[in-house]
Amino acid sequence: MGIIRKKTRFAQCFLLVLFLFLNIQFSKESDTLSPGQSLSGNQTLTSAGGIFELGFFTPGNSQNYYIGIWYKTLPNQTVVWVANRKEPLSDHFSSELKLLEDGNLVLLNQSGAAVWSTNSTSTVHNSTTAKLLDNANFVISNAVGSSGVIWQSFDHPTNHWLPGGKLGYKNKTNEEMALVSWRSPENPAPSLFSLDVARNGTGHSHLLKWNGTHQYWNSGDWTGKIFTFVPELQLNFYVTNMTLISNENESYFTYTSAIPTAFTRFVVEATGQLRQYVWQENFREWRFFWTRPTQQCEVYAFCGPFSVCNQREEPLCVCMEGFEPKVEENWKLEDHTDGCVRKDPLQCDGIEKKDRFLVKRSMFLPDNPESLAVGSVEECESKCLSNCSCNAFAYDNGCSIWKGDLFNLQQLESGDETGRNFHIRIAESELIQTSVKHKSDKTVLIVCAAIAGFCIVCVLVTVILWRRRPTVLLEGVDGSLVPFKYQQLRSATKNFSEKLGEGAFGSVFKGTLPNSATIAVKELKNLQQGEKQFQAEVKTIGMIQHINLVQLRGFCVQASKRFLVYEYMPNGSLESILFRRSSRILDWQSRFKIATGTARGLAYLHEKCRDCIIHCDIKPENILLDAEYNPKVADFGLAKLFGREFSRVLTTMRGTRGYLAPEWISGEAVTPKADVFSYGMLLFEVISGRRNREKLENGFEDYFPLRVAKTVQNGEDVLALLDDRLEGNAVTEELNRACKVACWCIQDDEKDRPTMGQVVQILEGVTEVDIPPMPRFLQHLTENPAEAVPHQETSSTTES
Ligand SMILES: *[C@@H]1O[C@H](CO)[C@@H](O)[C@H](O)[C@H]1NC(C)=O
Ligand SMILES: *[C@@H]1O[C@H](CO)[C@@H](O)[C@H](O)[C@H]1NC(C)=O
Ligand SMILES: *[C@@H]1O[C@H](CO)[C@@H](O)[C@H](O)[C@H]1NC(C)=O
Ligand SMILES: *[C@@H]1O[C@H](CO)[C@@H](O)[C@H](O)[C@H]1NC(C)=O
Ligand SMILES: *[C@@H]1O[C@H](CO)[C@@H](O)[C@H](O)[C@H]1NC(C)=O
Ligand SMILES: *[C@@H]1O[C@H](CO)[C@@H](O)[C@H](O)[C@H]1NC(C)=O
Ligand SMILES: *[C@@H]1O[C@H](CO)[C@@H](O)[C@H](O)[C@H]1NC(C)=O
Ligand SMILES: *[C@@H]1O[C@H](CO)[C@@H](O)[C@H](O)[C@H]1NC(C)=O
Ligand SMILES: *[C@@H]1O[C@H](CO)[C@@H](O)[C@H](O)[C@H]1NC(C)=O
Ligand SMILES: *[C@@H]1O[C@H](CO)[C@@H](O)[C@H](O)[C@H]1NC(C)=O
Ligand SMILES: *[C@@H]1O[C@H](CO)[C@@H](O)[C@H](O)[C@H]1NC(C)=O
Repeated sequence: MGIIRKKTRFAQCFLLVLFLFLNIQFSKESDTLSPGQSLSGNQTLTSAGGIFELGFFTPGNSQNYYIGIWYKTLPNQTVVWVANRKEPLSDHFSSELKLLEDGNLVLLNQSGAAVWSTNSTSTVHNSTTAKLLDNANFVISNAVGSSGVIWQSFDHPTNHWLPGGKLGYKNKTNEEMALVSWRSPENPAPSLFSLDVARNGTGHSHLLKWNGTHQYWNSGDWTGKIFTFVPELQLNFYVTNMTLISNENESYFTYTSAIPTAFTRFVVEATGQLRQYVWQENFREWRFFWTRPTQQCEVYAFCGPFSVCNQREEPLCVCMEGFEPKVEENWKLEDHTDGCVRKDPLQCDGIEKKDRFLVKRSMFLPDNPESLAVGSVEECESKCLSNCSCNAFAYDNGCSIWKGDLFNLQQLESGDETGRNFHIRIAESELIQTSVKHKSDKTVLIVCAAIAGFCIVCVLVTVILWRRRPTVLLEGVDGSLVPFKYQQLRSATKNFSEKLGEGAFGSVFKGTLPNSATIAVKELKNLQQGEKQFQAEVKTIGMIQHINLVQLRGFCVQASKRFLVYEYMPNGSLESILFRRSSRILDWQSRFKIATGTARGLAYLHEKCRDCIIHCDIKPENILLDAEYNPKVADFGLAKLFGREFSRVLTTMRGTRGYLAPEWISGEAVTPKADVFSYGMLLFEVISGRRNREKLENGFEDYFPLRVAKTVQNGEDVLALLDDRLEGNAVTEELNRACKVACWCIQDDEKDRPTMGQVVQILEGVTEVDIPPMPRFLQHLTENPAEAVPHQETSSTTES
């Protein structure tokens, strides 16, 4: 025994020595450069904990090489710092990053010239080291003696602000420690968008100046706060403790991440948006849970001069008529900041007035107009023509003209009341090319007449053929689905003219069939599914029938377009009747009917169908009301139809988050209990007649689910919770049950939530329930009301 044990000991020792040896000999993983040492080719430094890596990289499909720092453990290299962002290299094997003996870190190109340098010098010769830390800071310091840091990458941020990183300025050297966006995902060179600390004459201020929207944030409001709970996300773990550090040399904001297991980063994106991302262990991708502005077109100058931003179309930026991209290659990489230039120069001939104006309708006008006191459109136009630097005018109870570059033009929807007519000045030669209509040339007239004649003939022929077709069966026999033709839907909806609503997954139009049945036609947006699979899915959805579910009548496939045809619900959605102040006020009886009916519909989807269907998007917008105000759940089955895309849209869509169960965001598997959570949130709104999140503006004490949970726990009068407009007219017993069940539905752990079947029984009074425990996320609010500041509110902006 003894001998055997000794032998094992020996073997263990041997292995240990071998392991150490191998490690020393073959592992190139080092976190430090010593004087005279350099990195080249694919050699890298790795921080001690193996979190960050530093070396050469090429962004995207670029041919250029840069020195950067990225997360070593994550897939898809996320670069958080770049050294030579303005000085790209064409090869990395013949270039080197070298720490000189005088403490200067230089990047040498193929010919040995220094293209980038830290310009740092040490007083103690040959004693500095450059070390990559686990927080991504790359620090050059003196190894002997403790005269501290000579240079560090945190003093020179690029587009990222990481925990421990700095955002501020050095008041001795007057250097900014600001974030400046990349030009495009393939080009880290500095672009137009920056985030920095606003300074005024005397010293630092608490204002963060973010020129993506020309706005300022009072970051002083952020300091010392721990943002524990984000109701919009139903989350209480993305934590940040912002601190302002000021000393004789510098003044900056920094923050910590309170969850050591998660990565978090702020970044000014190449698009000009500011975002905070989080990566937790169980995530497979970066999730952004905070972004400003939410609309890309709101980023100031995103499209560059003389370009128009349209939030609803791809590509977002287009040059105005008569203009073309200034740098075509950049434009292709979605770097629009250079904007557009005129194809033909203006004539600017004051006498002959060779320039013309082109009207663009429903435009959001650029900043900084010059107002002129003239009384008519014509006068306004001629004022603009009379100055060569005038590029555009608008007349709207007054004349505004614009000189110089035009920034921030936005195309609004045609119905948008804020939209204005905008007259852009272009050379006459351009106008001729742009619109043939204005030319009263004879040939044009003849061609037009010929085309018109041809069209009339075509229409006649079509009508005749159409009439002679056997009448198409427009209603399925015994509830089977009708495969509609696109033409039929088009004429039923009068060319999709009456829009009933629009959601993230498509728009809904009202239509009337030849047999005068009214239908709702949903056009599905961005559905990537093939025709066969679509039909198969749709048929399963079509087989589901229940009094509290909106009945699918048919579908239509036309090229890449997909439509679903539903029965029409005359009383619209619960959202419109509950929250739009002008409409009829639902009495308690109707509300209770809606609550139980919705629960029954969901219970049917979860428990009675052949395959369990999780709705995934329960909210007042998706509960429709028939002529008798019976609730019908709409859009079930869409989650399956859209697959992964559905959850992506859902988790990022504003307005939906308040209804999403925590497991949606934490990335755990979603079960029917996720619908139960959303139903609970909806039930609160049925009781209060207001959006839960609406009351948040007054602070957490007013967060309605919290109020209900407290009232129920303390055994207080639930009538106090009821929508004021009902003036206390409700069946107290029913209201009591509704409040209790809603609190049970929003428990953190899905196992604690009832099933929809149980919800029905509880509402009906068949099953009794205990007093619900306070959900943890609400509990947190009661314990830390002062600390709990939701992100959305904290980042309140003030116009500059
Ligand atoms: C590093 O580069 C060398 C030379 O091109 C190559 O042989 C080697 O496989 C590379 N190593 C890695 C880890 O990419
Ligand atoms: C190296 O950089 C120097 C100075 O910037 C430049 O003149 C030279 O052309 C570069 N060499 C190569 C091979 O890029
Ligand atoms: C180093 O100094 C040169 C010349 O003054 C300057 O162009 C360069 O930007 C400096 N590098 C850094 C990293 O500050
Ligand atoms: C500097 O230190 C390195 C090792 O750290 C050594 O190899 C080198 O000879 C030293 N150079 C001088 C000039 O002392
Ligand atoms: C933002 O600030 C930078 C540096 O001050 C400036 O170059 C840039 O033009 C500004 N961008 C916008 C959109 O105003
Ligand atoms: C500078 O900013 C500080 C802090 O915001 C403010 O108190 C002070 O009045 C400002 N000074 C000027 C001259 O604007
Ligand atoms: C936030 O950070 C500051 C400085 O690092 C520290 O003094 C403070 O205690 C922290 N606040 C909380 C709530 O942890
Ligand atoms: C830098 O800031 C400190 C503290 O705010 C101040 O005492 C000092 O005078 C400033 N120095 C300069 C050069 O502005
Ligand atoms: C400010 O800078 C000076 C010289 O660079 C240095 O000696 C001093 O320690 C710095 N002060 C702080 C608080 O870092
Ligand atoms: C990595 O990049 C590929 C291609 O761009 C993308 O499809 C994939 O989703 C990315 N993965 C992660 C985790 O971001
Ligand atoms: C045209 O506008 C520019 C800029 O406002 C101004 O300097 C110039 O005097 C104007 N020219 C005429 C002819 O009004």
